Amino acid sequence: MKGLIERYRKYLPVTPATPVISLQEGSTPLIRVPRIEKEFDFPFQLYVKYEGLNPTGSFKDRGMTMAMSKAAEKGCEYVICASTGNTSASAAAYGARAKIKVLVVIPEGAIALGKLSQAMIHGAKIVAVRGNFDDSLKIVREICEKYPVELVNSINPFRIEGQKTAAFEIVDDLGRAPDYHAIPVGNAGNITAYWKGYKEYSAVRPVMMGFQAAKSAPIVDGHIIKDPQTVATAIKIGNPASWKKAEEARDESLGVIDKVTDDEIIFAYKALAGLEGVFCEPASAASVAGLIKYNKKGYFKNASERTIITATLTGHGLKDPDTAIKSCEHPALAPPDLEEVCKLLGL
Ligand code: F0G
Repeated sequence: MKGLIERYRKYLPVTPATPVISLQEGSTPLIRVPRIEKEFDFPFQLYVKYEGLNPTGSFKDRGMTMAMSKAAEKGCEYVICASTGNTSASAAAYGARAKIKVLVVIPEGAIALGKLSQAMIHGAKIVAVRGNFDDSLKIVREICEKYPVELVNSINPFRIEGQKTAAFEIVDDLGRAPDYHAIPVGNAGNITAYWKGYKEYSAVRPVMMGFQAAKSAPIVDGHIIKDPQTVATAIKIGNPASWKKAEEARDESLGVIDKVTDDEIIFAYKALAGLEGVFCEPASAASVAGLIKYNKKGYFKNASERTIITATLTGHGLKDPDTAIKSCEHPALAPPDLEEVCKLLGL
């Protein structure tokens, strides 16, 4: 299978001199979810873009193949990122492949287990700060001004270039752009990238619907959130770097950026896993949680069975096993006895 630089080379800022650092990312499945449509009385078709099936389990690999290839082309020795987890996991993996040293600054105690394990096993140098993601990003930006290290957060324009290819794939798979596109919003790079992608690839564009977590919703609330909180640690961000670009995507597409509560996020997360067999991480489910909320409000009253909505599921559920286990009933315990086991199995 081709990686996304090979697949969409003519739309990307690469030259024959660019060393392509790839793990065959992209080409992720676009899955129709009919049981979700039925359960929530959706008058439209819903497809989820399952980005958890990228090589390191999140959409970050799309941006990282580009950012790391360009860093290698430039001859960088070090790259650095602040992260809520997925960016660092992806940077660590692509850095290993590119033979570039990866420096990571993360908020202490706020990174899901799977993501931290990835950054560690791929050999990144990691510092956890007693602060949040916004503090970490500020420090990393300052480091980049002082030292010859390349920033691979989504402020790096090559990250956006790589990530826009998800919109290309959706248009290729559907044969047209969707009517609406729902997406979680954290640092706001991905909504920026999708909107850029749709604009470059399709004359007809979707209405963009971005969703933040209720207590980490600076764009919706209209001010920086000093102490953001949410179970969806990936989007626990109070001062998004691409704030203005996200607002442009919203306004140009006549869309919305709104918020969903942690309860709504976990409800959608469990519905996707339980009804469709699609396991995403909590932050990812903000997209579907937002659609459930907007459908209840009557926002889609003019939609029909020909209306197509896509929702990005940004990361794999295995990234955050703790939240999965916490939000379900725990296994019953039995002695090694047939009758007891059957009884507990409800047989
Ligand atoms: N979903 C997941 C699983 C993420 O990891 C992120 C961002 C987002 C959604 C939001 O995307 O920031 O482009 O608006 N994670 C970053 C990280 C911040 O460090 O891994 P965004």
